[in-house]
Amino acid sequence: MTPRNLKYPLPRSLFPRAMLIVIVPLIALQLVVAFVFFQRHFEGVTRQMTRNIARELAVAQQVIDTSPTAEIAQLRLTNLSQPLEIALSLRAEELRPGAHRRDLFDLSGRALVAEMADLLGGQLQIDLAADRRQVDVRLQTDKGVLRAVIPRSRMTVSNPHQLLVLMTATALVLAVIALLFMRNQMKPILQLANAADAFGKGRSVPYRPAGAEEVRRAGAAFLSMRQRIERAMEQRTQMLSGVSHDLRTPLTRMKLSLAMADAMPEAREMERDVEQMEQMLNSFLAFARGDQMDEVEDVHLPALLEEMAEQARRGGGCVETDIRLEPAELPTATLRRAALARALQNLLSNATRYGSRTRLSLRTTPRAVQFIVEDDGPGVPVDRREEVMRPFIRLDSARNQDRGGGVGLGLAIAQDVARAHGGALELSDSEALGGLKAVLRLPR
Ligand SMILES: Nc1ncnc2c1ncn2[C@@H]1O[C@H](COP(=O)(O)OP(=O)(O)OP(=O)(O)O)[C@@H](O)[C@H]1O
Ligand SMILES: [Mg+2]
Repeated sequence: MTPRNLKYPLPRSLFPRAMLIVIVPLIALQLVVAFVFFQRHFEGVTRQMTRNIARELAVAQQVIDTSPTAEIAQLRLTNLSQPLEIALSLRAEELRPGAHRRDLFDLSGRALVAEMADLLGGQLQIDLAADRRQVDVRLQTDKGVLRAVIPRSRMTVSNPHQLLVLMTATALVLAVIALLFMRNQMKPILQLANAADAFGKGRSVPYRPAGAEEVRRAGAAFLSMRQRIERAMEQRTQMLSGVSHDLRTPLTRMKLSLAMADAMPEAREMERDVEQMEQMLNSFLAFARGDQMDEVEDVHLPALLEEMAEQARRGGGCVETDIRLEPAELPTATLRRAALARALQNLLSNATRYGSRTRLSLRTTPRAVQFIVEDDGPGVPVDRREEVMRPFIRLDSARNQDRGGGVGLGLAIAQDVARAHGGALELSDSEALGGLKAVLRLPR
């Protein structure tokens, strides 16, 4: 995790982010509403209902106080029980000292006890814990303890969770609707990302702009860009193959004439020049064909590596190989085999042309594949490494003397191949051999 990710612990992809943007305010709103509801409404109603009951108990208290004897008081209380619908009894005893009792999470109970104590005053004991459906009140009078048992439903709003359940259910429904809606909005963005990704790797997948206005605009811009690039690539191919083709005919004619003019002493040399020109034309054609690459297939990497090394050895090079796979049980990758072989061949032919020893290595990780070609030649100066990868660029001819002439397309083709796979070609110094180190890095 980078420090940036630590600072903003947001999910990485768009969909969960959008969901968070919807869900966090929703939960916050629910919390605020629930809090206000309990604090104000729920408690307030409980206090009001409690006040009514407390007044009735005050009446009972007064009846006891105004009765001449405890027996008469008891009789009057029994009569009062009926209309008040409260079980009232009087016992000739002293209130045992003790506190009110209620469950810890009995939120309305707190308001109830507070209100009752406020209105009745004196010595009072309220028990809410013994039976959750009843309120057991004991009140000290001068003729003993007045005990009243009142149904809890008369003092507290019944089923307060109903609102909470309703709120949660609505929130869930809203979240699901948002999820479905969002997923539809997300789809065109994903399609655009996939199309752009595929094009970056050299594949042109069918794509049609869809979705919201902005996404459509980005999609249309991508399409016109893709068309422009494809047209440019097509023009490059047509031009190069046209030129090469047109030049071939006169070249063939020259070859024929030279074969006839055997007697001329310069004929042999000219024939060699013509042959070299033909080879150059073939290179142009190969480069021009670069964009018409083969389809991807599962390539066994170590086998390809050995094959390329063997081919280079047959061409007279001294090539050693070094393979390190990670994970070892994954020796294949999905690549364009012929194009990759061409790129490696170009790198190897450079290495054997400009150096005397060559090492071809393969490194894989779960996400990438690296082919490394190193040699013990003169290398390429740091400030010219970008340049030599461009088409038709060759370093000073002095260093290429008697090494056979190329046209300067080898590295350009290798880089094309790397880019067509969404990878890159990097040049650096070889620590092991002292010459150039070319790394062909491809995602798998
Ligand atoms: N391994 C190397 N060591 C030293 N110089 C190199 C090496 N590879 C390439 N170069 C330099 O980079 C230039 C460009 O290389 P590139 O492969 O593109 O063309 P080329 O080898 O000259 O011709 P082609 O490959 O088309 O036959 C070469 O002319 C050479 O000067
Ligand atoms: Mg070359």
